[in-house]
Amino acid sequence: MSAGPRSRAAGPGELLIADDIEEHAALAAELLARSIVEAVAARGVARVALSGGSTPQDAYRRLASMRLPWESVEWFWVDERAALPDHPRSNYGAARRDLSLDRAPPANVFRMEADDPDLEAAAARYERLLRRSFGVARAAAFDAVTLGVGDDGHTASLFPGLGLTSIDDRLVIAVPPQPAKGLEARMSLTAPVIHEARLVVVLVRGAGKKAIIEAARSPGAEEEIPSRLIQRCSGRVVWLVDRAAV
Ligand code: 6PG
Repeated sequence: MSAGPRSRAAGPGELLIADDIEEHAALAAELLARSIVEAVAARGVARVALSGGSTPQDAYRRLASMRLPWESVEWFWVDERAALPDHPRSNYGAARRDLSLDRAPPANVFRMEADDPDLEAAAARYERLLRRSFGVARAAAFDAVTLGVGDDGHTASLFPGLGLTSIDDRLVIAVPPQPAKGLEARMSLTAPVIHEARLVVVLVRGAGKKAIIEAARSPGAEEEIPSRLIQRCSGRVVWLVDRAAV
C-alpha cells in the first residue's frame, strides 16, 4: 500500500474490508505506519491527527508495537472531549496509553486542551499551534488522520444539526455540549483541515454501523450526516471496515 497521489476526484473513497478485529487493527496500523515512513522520508517529519472512540484502540496498540521513526512523528488530535487528560473520557489519555506515547518526545505531542473552561480560547490556541507547525503560509495538511463515524453520522466532533460541517474560516472549533445526547463540550478540527490530509483512514466496525456507513458514502446533506464531508477529501481516503459493517 502507498499513501497515493495528492489529488484525486472527490467520492466515497476506497473500501477495505477486514475479516476480523485483528485484521482490522493490522491493516489500520499498516496504513498509518506507511504514511509515517513516507512522510519522514519526504519531509523529515510525519504529522498525525488522532480520533478517539473505541474503534481505533486496537489499531493504535498495534501501531505502538511497530518499528517506526518515533522521534520524527508529531501527534495531534482530531477532536477532544472536555475532560482532564487522565480522565477515561479523554481522547488524549486513551491515545497516550494505546500508542505508548510516553516514549515520544514531549515536544512532539500536542494535546487539545478541551478541559479549559474557556473552550473558544483553547480552540484558538490550538489553531495557532497548527499554523505554527505547518507554517502560516501553508495548509494544515496532516500526513495521516484517523476518523470514526458515530451512530448519528458524526465524524471528528462535527455533530449533525449544529451547523459545524460548513465552517470554513477556522481550523479548530469549540463544540457546545449536547446534554440531550449526554455529551460534554468538545474541541474539533474543522472539515477543511480533514479535507487537506494526505491520508484519511476511517475506522468503523460492527453491524450497528452498516446503515450509517452507507449513508456517509452516499450523496446527500452533510448537515444531516456530517461524515459525508469525507467525500470531499483531496487526499487518499480508506474506509476500513469489518464484514459486519458492510
Ligand atoms: C470521539 C471521536 C468520535 C468517534 C466516533 C466513533 O471523541 O468520540 O473522535 O468522532 O470517532 O464517535 O466512535 P467509536 O469508534 O467509539 O464508534
